[in-house]
Amino acid sequence: MDSKKTFYLTTPIYYPSGNMTIGHTYTTVAADTMVRFTKMQGYDTYFLTGTDEHGQKIEKKAAEAGVTPLQYVDKIVAETQELWKLMDIQYDDFIRTSQERHTKVVQRIFRQFYDQGDIYKSEYEGMYCTPCESFWTPTQLVEKDGQKVCPDCGRPCQPMKEESYFFRMSKYQDWLIDYIETHPDFIQPAKRANEMINNFLKPGLQDLCVSRTSVKWGIPVDFDPKHTIYVWIDALSNYITALGYDTNHDELFRKYWPADIHLVGKEIVRFHTIYWPIMLHALGLPLPKQVFGHGWLLFGADRMSKSKGNVVYPQPIVARYGVDALRYYLMREMPFGADGNYTNEAFLTRMNADLANDLGNLVSRTVAMIEKYFDGVIPAWNDDAVDEAIDNPLREHCAALPKLVEEQMDKLQFSQALAEIWKVVGECNKYIDVTQPWVLGKDPEKKARLGNVLLMLAECVRFVAVLIQPVMPTTPPRIFEQLGIADDQLKTWESLQRFGVLPEGVKVHKGDALFPRIDVKKELEALSGKKEEKKVEKKEEKNAQGGKTEQKADKKEKKKVEIPEGCIGFDDFEKIKLRVARVITCERVEKSEKLLKFRLSLGDEERTVLSGIAKFHTPEELVGKKLILLANLAPRKIMGIESQGMLLSAVKVNEDGTETLRLLTADPIMPDGAEIG
Ligand code: ME8
Ligand code: MG
Repeated sequence: MDSKKTFYLTTPIYYPSGNMTIGHTYTTVAADTMVRFTKMQGYDTYFLTGTDEHGQKIEKKAAEAGVTPLQYVDKIVAETQELWKLMDIQYDDFIRTSQERHTKVVQRIFRQFYDQGDIYKSEYEGMYCTPCESFWTPTQLVEKDGQKVCPDCGRPCQPMKEESYFFRMSKYQDWLIDYIETHPDFIQPAKRANEMINNFLKPGLQDLCVSRTSVKWGIPVDFDPKHTIYVWIDALSNYITALGYDTNHDELFRKYWPADIHLVGKEIVRFHTIYWPIMLHALGLPLPKQVFGHGWLLFGADRMSKSKGNVVYPQPIVARYGVDALRYYLMREMPFGADGNYTNEAFLTRMNADLANDLGNLVSRTVAMIEKYFDGVIPAWNDDAVDEAIDNPLREHCAALPKLVEEQMDKLQFSQALAEIWKVVGECNKYIDVTQPWVLGKDPEKKARLGNVLLMLAECVRFVAVLIQPVMPTTPPRIFEQLGIADDQLKTWESLQRFGVLPEGVKVHKGDALFPRIDVKKELEALSGKKEEKKVEKKEEKNAQGGKTEQKADKKEKKKVEIPEGCIGFDDFEKIKLRVARVITCERVEKSEKLLKFRLSLGDEERTVLSGIAKFHTPEELVGKKLILLANLAPRKIMGIESQGMLLSAVKVNEDGTETLRLLTADPIMPDGAEIG
């Protein structure tokens, strides 16, 4: 007998250095949706998430908080698990890299690599900041008064050698290139596979430093305990240690490995498609079938990040609008794979349009009309009251819907899958307009026709309710309740194999609106915090909920301040986003006398910016400098290159009428991306 097909899906294990944001929630909701969909189709699924707890950053945060690293992460892990409960995430296991089931196996994996010659001991050369106990690569250092200094504290660094273990990545490079080229589904979306091959593999893989003697909060190398295992061997192994790999209770590992999908954000695709496959290959294990790198949820033009303080947390949104509204928005708003913006306004607008209007109205109208015209009892189908021209297109479209949804879900195109479902919702609403049940209801002879129309709608609503279950776990039960569907068989994927299986005589129950229509303006204000708060508090609160929209709402609340002509108000100034940008590379633009092309680091993000200053600065002198970037200037193309922002400069007019220009710089101790205001 065939056992059920298995489906193993993972999220990244997140750093519990601070609370999880709507960004982490995005990946986790996508994972949960995919697993629920696959489970609905009859697969035996396994869903793993967890936390990546070791390392210097957490060590430092804990010290600041005056607690041990484990105490520090325990608290955040508990809050993370609360959040996943709130978001209705049905994971099967939550792995923490501090757990013994993980650390023991990682030590064995490390030893095996060493024993078989994949790991060797050498020296790591870097610049060392003694007060911070931190190693930096030369490019991470910043220049101050002609000296290379620590980017964290601004104090001078010394070249230093640290004894380290290294993984011989280079040995597997050709094998990996071949593997990626012969397994086109392995890296998705496909363009990310090209990035990996062209940017990392073809230029040649560096051996990877895999241990530290300067970090204490980590898994010790058991045969050389002054070393702790550094980052990626520890973190990536979670996907197999959680299944009991290399223990005497490895049933889950034998059942579910290789994983079907590792879902990750695009910034860590590299680790999952280069280091991880090489590690697995060295262990003699099969590779995951797919690594899917999705895009970023941005906040304005920026990637959301705790260090920038432009973070949105899901809790207050869920508290106000329910978990399904947020899950729907996250899965619907942007194509999976691409970046997209989160704004409260877009969220609220979509909630009104798609949920309150389209879906909510369809359900409430259908149920209300069955109550009104048939005392709440769904009538039987009557073959003599068919209008083929009107009925057939909707029936056929709805019957084909499961297949259309499946096609999109197989590619993790959640947004497209929902768009397909909402096409049918829209068609149902149109069907109501065309058939005009309220007119049919006035004519007793049209009773049978009216019955068919309402049954048709009820069956379409059932299809929709079944299909949205993976994305919206709490709404379908309310729809089934209103439709009077108690039989669980009618809520399954199989029940969609045939259209028209709703039994006669079912009694509907009018309920509360699924999604009450909301006043977007009011809600924007509510999400942005209380009116009476002072500006200073507001600014601090940017870290908390509601994000940038609060500024908009705030403006409305404030007493009108007289702004003299020629001046701008503080609100206007606040629109301008200035950031510290470190020059990674700088070069002349071919065929242009004026233009320099910069690659800039804003911390978590990089930008390309053009500036017409080639007459005043040489590219070489600018590399490593910390400049001032107008970060939210609308991007524009110059000579075919998109410039994403503007570098600020000061200009002086000389006696002979010529100009001298200098780019503005920031104090080198300012981290990349620091906000100016
Ligand atoms: O990278 N948009 O952990 P992390 C989209 N521990 N996705 C986002 C996001 C955003 N704004 N913010 C976070 C780590 N994510 C490592 C992973 S895996 C073996 C180790 C999601 O806490 C996205 O999935 O920085 C991203 O890859 C992940 O959280 C980064 O989480
Ligand atoms: Mg990260």
